[in-house]
Amino acid sequence: MDSFSDISRQRLPALLRAMPKAELHIHIEGSLEPELIFALAGRNGITLPYASVEELRSAYAFTNLQSFLDIYYAGASVLIEEQDFYDMAHAYFVKAAADKVVHAELFFDPQTHTARGVAMETVISGLHRACVDAEAEFGISAALILCFLRHLSEEEAFETLEQALPYRDKIIGVGLDSGEVGNPPEKFARVFARCRALGLHLVAHAGEEGPPAYIWTALDVLKVERIDHGVQAIKDPSLMQRLAQDRIALTVCPLSNLKLCVFPELAQHNLRQLLDAGLAVTINSDDPAYFGGYMNDNFTQTFAAVGMDAGHAYTLARNSFEASFIDAAARRRYIDRLDACFAEFRG
Ligand code: ADE
Ligand code: ZN
Repeated sequence: MDSFSDISRQRLPALLRAMPKAELHIHIEGSLEPELIFALAGRNGITLPYASVEELRSAYAFTNLQSFLDIYYAGASVLIEEQDFYDMAHAYFVKAAADKVVHAELFFDPQTHTARGVAMETVISGLHRACVDAEAEFGISAALILCFLRHLSEEEAFETLEQALPYRDKIIGVGLDSGEVGNPPEKFARVFARCRALGLHLVAHAGEEGPPAYIWTALDVLKVERIDHGVQAIKDPSLMQRLAQDRIALTVCPLSNLKLCVFPELAQHNLRQLLDAGLAVTINSDDPAYFGGYMNDNFTQTFAAVGMDAGHAYTLARNSFEASFIDAAARRRYIDRLDACFAEFRG
């Protein structure tokens, strides 16, 4: 795939929607739509501090990451039964399939649930069952990445890992999320070393709101394979060089960055600069129910705002497969499907 100039700007939105893609940065609790939050609250006899779906949705006006996390953790409190976790993930896969997501790696936050007395087994088995069904129902391959909450202690992360180990076969990796500033990656050096020894894949949120130094330590101390967000890397030229040289993927989430005021306007997002600097950038939805869009909304709105073309589209989709934790045969199959899609649009 070398020439994209014969795909017109006019057909670009259709191409973005049609091309197969992988989603590598989706917090499954962030896919809980207000309607499902109310339905689950009703099912589980939980009273929400909002009178209606509309009232809850109108509270989604965020000024920074923490202002979002407060509402996000409250929303997740309606998840009690195994079926609740299944229903949440299944609803995400319905949206993902419509957006031509063919592979998804789902983050989940077990500590948000175990702290409320929900068993680890309930969380993982509901999510895992939905992942298995996604393959049969939608042809989507899916896997789970357990995230440690970085505002909690490393000791609590170790306890969470111990609780999850009986389900080791249902998890492909671990990540690090929640409030970034003041909770640097190196706080979790030992637990990540243990996860690495267990053969788990490693990722971490870094450089969302936090400084480039957090991206350096995520790489050099935690030894992560991908950086979630990473948009603050632009402030550090030597870090940009490192990320480009080592092909460290960034799972960028444009609508999230807009809604959490990381960038004042989507037109000012630096995704295109990161991509043009040779970094392995991908586009993802982060918490789509809260940030106003799933994968294709992120693609179409970002392309319109920063003025990218079909060549950028191909690179972003291809990067999503290159950065996925899938085997070489699956990667080849997905890239062949991507090439076939582009061939159709050129033909
Ligand atoms: N948890 C859910 N979404 C998050 C984000 N964007 N950053 C950090 N933690 C999160
Ligand atoms: Zn995230």
